[in-house]
Amino acid sequence: MRKTILVSTKKHNYPIIIDFNLFDKPLSLPFLKKGDSVMIVTNKIIFSLYFKKISNQLNNVGIKVNYVIIPDGEKYKTLITVNIIFTALIKNSHNRDTTLIALGGGVIGDITGFAASSYQRGVKFIQIPTTLLSQVDSSVGGKTAVNHILGKNMIGSFYQPNIVIINLSCLYTLSKREFSAGLAEVIKYSILFDEKFFSWLENNVNKLFNLDKKTLIYCISKCCKLKSQIIHEDEFEKNKRALLNLGHTYGHAIESEIGYGKWLHGEAISAGIVIASLTSKKLNFINNKDIIRIINLLKKCNLPIKGPINMNTEQYFKHIYRDKKTYKNKIHIILPIKIGKAIIYKNISEKIITNAINENKNII
Ligand code: NAD
Ligand code: GLY
Repeated sequence: MRKTILVSTKKHNYPIIIDFNLFDKPLSLPFLKKGDSVMIVTNKIIFSLYFKKISNQLNNVGIKVNYVIIPDGEKYKTLITVNIIFTALIKNSHNRDTTLIALGGGVIGDITGFAASSYQRGVKFIQIPTTLLSQVDSSVGGKTAVNHILGKNMIGSFYQPNIVIINLSCLYTLSKREFSAGLAEVIKYSILFDEKFFSWLENNVNKLFNLDKKTLIYCISKCCKLKSQIIHEDEFEKNKRALLNLGHTYGHAIESEIGYGKWLHGEAISAGIVIASLTSKKLNFINNKDIIRIINLLKKCNLPIKGPINMNTEQYFKHIYRDKKTYKNKIHIILPIKIGKAIIYKNISEKIITNAINENKNII
């Protein structure tokens, strides 16, 4: 069943290994050798579930394992937490030849990647994503970041991992709410690039929720393939990679405004995708039939289709103007023009955005 997908950029090539039970067998890490040390970054929950199996596998081949536990949750995706990792690395005498391992969801992956990119000006880095969201999106492509109180993912770097190890068995311990949040990013890929995949999702959501093995491996490999193609073409988001931010301009505004962690990232992106679709409708791109299909699929995945009830347009705009895609005060936004195709729309008017946010408040 194992799938291997290669990510190749101008300077980096690395595999994404996807399978079940990957912690029960020796991990294939050709860039590590006997006597090397690694630092595993994780949180309490994931430590208790998976740390022992992984450290045993590494110890068996002579690798020395240290670990650092960081607090769990989006509100801890900060520079303060990055510093906890640095302290652990320095205290345990980790040099430039060390390797950081992110064992956890997207929060752990983003923080650890950022620490790896700056510790002693850059050390090796392994992604072991344990949530659906991190398996289909955040562990691939090298975006690392922490939040600032004034804005989401404001401090970060592009820093590719040396390998991504996706153990699908981790999904069996994930809560249904977190699983749904991951589906928001899955649906995002299908709206952006692949109408057939969207239809497949419409027909297979129940099997995904039931963690059917074949369905999971198909879905997650499909997302990783789509993402690796984009990264190959545009690693540093000069152009096409920006498409992957569908729903994120509105979604990040929601997360930053209401307080990190109140809504899950995938939930904010779900509402953001609906508002982006309504924005596209205001410009006469996407038709109503497609919007209804998008809303229905998100609903089927138990995802929100509306932004927070009390969030007003001024609150959205405050964050939209800080968005990383906003350029010279001109708002750029990703718009689906039909299911399977999207564009980067540059310099959109405030009026269109206001109308879309207001229409979103009234949908059912
Ligand atoms: P998360 O990392 O907060 O994990 C969700 C929760 O699930 C946490 O409480 C975690 O402890 C728990 N958990 C993780 N794996 C588990 C498992 N197997 N079993 C039981 N519990 C488990 O959230 P997330 O949704 O994985 O990631 C969201 C983050 O990813 C956001 O900060 C977002 O900005 C970021 N992100 C980054 C990129 C990127 O390209 N770098 C892309 C998308 C999202
Ligand atoms: N999640 C968006 C990106 O990786 O570009």
